[in-house]
Amino acid sequence: MKTNPTEIKSSFVRETLTLAALLVAASACWAAPATDDPVLLRGKYLVENVGLCGDCHSQRDEKGQIPAGKHLMGAALPFAPTVPMPVWAPMAPRIAGLPTLSVAQAEEYLTTGEGRPAGPTRPPMPPYRFSPEDAKAVVAYLKSLKAKAH
Ligand code: HEC
Repeated sequence: MKTNPTEIKSSFVRETLTLAALLVAASACWAAPATDDPVLLRGKYLVENVGLCGDCHSQRDEKGQIPAGKHLMGAALPFAPTVPMPVWAPMAPRIAGLPTLSVAQAEEYLTTGEGRPAGPTRPPMPPYRFSPEDAKAVVAYLKSLKAKAH
């Protein structure tokens, strides 16, 4: 059978593009630990699907997308209060790896809103009341992002 050279070329281009798309997809999930540890998976679920922590703690580009490597790396908030507030934190710090808090401090913070050296939480950070078990999972997950955060 005679193969048309343009067909060979276009299928090569298609395969190269598919490979490139797969590589981009793989590099975009750099922060996800490859794990089947149930505690880390629970923490990831609470961070990404329940608390939506990345809504405030990740910077976004002009299209509203989180650039690669910026997930949970901290961000200036893109909004401000519409009524006078006694206190307000205009910046959501980096929480990938939880660089400023020990495990015990972070667990206390997520169960009571207190326990940070920097003082009690300020809005708009929600004063979460995670159960001790869920706080442990969230903190274990965030600490696990340390090695890969850059
Ligand atoms: C509505 C925005 C918002 C959401 C959603 C949010 N945060 Fe925050 N977070 C903040 C802001 C703003 C601060 C800074 C508060 C301050 O300095 O008092 C903060 C502070 C923190 C801190 C303290 C960090 C430090 O270095 O002191 C931790 C830990 C934290 N957030 C974890 C989380 C987790 C975990 C979630 C999801 C379960 C989450 N946050 C969701 C806005 C948010």
